[in-house]
Amino acid sequence: MIMEKHITILGFAGSLRKNSYNKALLQAAEELVPKDVKLEIFDLEGIPPFNQDSEDQLPTTVRKFKARIKAADALLIATPEYNYGVPGVLKNAIDWASRPYGDNAFDGKPAALMSASPGMLGGARAQYQLRQTFVALNMHPINRPEVIVCYAEEKTNEKGKVTDEKTREKIAQLLEHLASWTRKLKE
Ligand SMILES: Cc1cc2nc3c(=O)[nH]c(=O)nc-3n(C[C@H](O)[C@H](O)[C@H](O)COP(=O)(O)O)c2cc1C
Repeated sequence: MIMEKHITILGFAGSLRKNSYNKALLQAAEELVPKDVKLEIFDLEGIPPFNQDSEDQLPTTVRKFKARIKAADALLIATPEYNYGVPGVLKNAIDWASRPYGDNAFDGKPAALMSASPGMLGGARAQYQLRQTFVALNMHPINRPEVIVCYAEEKTNEKGKVTDEKTREKIAQLLEHLASWTRKLKE
């Protein structure tokens, strides 16, 4: 029997909203992780607005966030779309964790993306904008499957559970691909 290397994924959502659809995607991912994979979730609540004057003395929440990113083998980001782009909360957290210069926590990390929106495009535009940032961060995102959840209110219940079977299948596939991509990069 082949033993697969254990993988830890750190997941975070670009929404602070209690009933966030994107947080619901992460919760579904927690339930759907493959064998030998653990998903930990980090809440971006409490990360202050970025100020470059503080980057040599990072706020505690940012230090914790950076440490969790560095300790993880891979990242899973669930992003809403705000005004056709990445929400400020998420971009702000990413900017902090990429600093100071020379200590970018995202450097070389494998990553996967998901998005959810009540709209018909499911946050796709925010995903592509985030991919552009991944280039600056020197990350290694997987391309497929694309987990773009449109009409999110029809695919989740009032308890914030993703109930749509096709969406759950896509999330499971995304996790499988992320795990095998992460193992490949470690070889
Ligand atoms: C400031 C703002 C801008 C928004 N812009 C978009 C948008 O460009 N595209 C879209 O699909 N939804 C947009 N929405 C609706 C969000 O998709 C919706 O609020 C969603 O629930 C946010 O994700 P969450 O449930 O994870 O918090 C916007 C919402 C806000 C508050």
